[in-house]
Amino acid sequence: MMRDQAETLRLKMLKSQGDLSRSIAIVSGKGGVGKSNFSTNFAHALLLQGKNVIIVDMDIGMGNIHILLGMAPRYSLKDYLLGNEELQEVINETSEGLHFISGGSGLDIVLEWSRDMFDRLIQAFEFLQQRYDFIIFDMGAGATQRSIELIIAVDEVIVISTTEPTSITDAYSMMKFICVQDPDKTFHLVSNRVSKGDDGNNAVIRLQYTMQKFLNKETTILGFLPEDPIVHKAVVAQQPFILLFPNAPISKRMIAIAETFIGTSSGQEFRQGEGFLGKLRNIFTKGRG
Ligand SMILES: Nc1ncnc2c1ncn2[C@@H]1O[C@H](COP(=O)(O)OP(=O)(O)O)[C@@H](O)[C@H]1O
Ligand SMILES: [Mg+2]
Repeated sequence: MMRDQAETLRLKMLKSQGDLSRSIAIVSGKGGVGKSNFSTNFAHALLLQGKNVIIVDMDIGMGNIHILLGMAPRYSLKDYLLGNEELQEVINETSEGLHFISGGSGLDIVLEWSRDMFDRLIQAFEFLQQRYDFIIFDMGAGATQRSIELIIAVDEVIVISTTEPTSITDAYSMMKFICVQDPDKTFHLVSNRVSKGDDGNNAVIRLQYTMQKFLNKETTILGFLPEDPIVHKAVVAQQPFILLFPNAPISKRMIAIAETFIGTSSGQEFRQGEGFLGKLRNIFTKGRG
């Protein structure tokens, strides 16, 4: 109880100073729509704006953020959660100054979440919130119980969708699912792999309309990214396309998306209650009794 009060006070202080960090989950309905590539390039676009950014790869055991960044970190989130390493040991930094926590790869362990691990997760976020302007959670493929809980806990969600009708309906279902559990969530929409013939934001405009009409929920459109073979080239080169091809149209669109995002409100000032950490605690307490 004492601890919660102290925390609320601290969050209030941070809020009044206007430097409370923004926690963002990158999600999609189905997998393979470009979340991880979005995360790494969006993070660099924010870096270029002079922000402190960390990516947390939540695809534990199947992470690929470190691969996209061309890094081979020694430790992953798992090592921290299991209590084998301190948080500082699992935070890596690229030569561009991007910080990230690897999800680890090779399916070496299936995580059975314990109370201790959840406590450590909360402690980690407490630290990250003080240190970074933006905490980007690249969500994994499967909608596991823990990943849903994390999505519920973060302030903002960026939903990536392709222009395929199935991807759009999946994105809608995902947002509906989140909205039911947290009606105050701030949603941002991004269309990815838009082909030349397609009309830019068309798909997300329809998605936005559907959210408004059926869930009475406002969303913001951050923009769209074209289908571009340089994404594949950059993956092979293990470097973000925004660094490898800074003048490509897709890189310019990503910069614009980051600028639009920075200009949006996180919605935190409209939200009552406890914010990220409190929500995580609530979820845990509810879930585990
Ligand atoms: N805008 C794009 N143009 C072309 N290919 C893309 C684009 N965005 C993503 N891809 C490709 O889609 C695949 C899946 O991307 P990834 O970021 O791993 O998706 P997710 O994390 O959602 O599973 C990758 O092979 C990537 O090269
Ligand atoms: Mg991914």
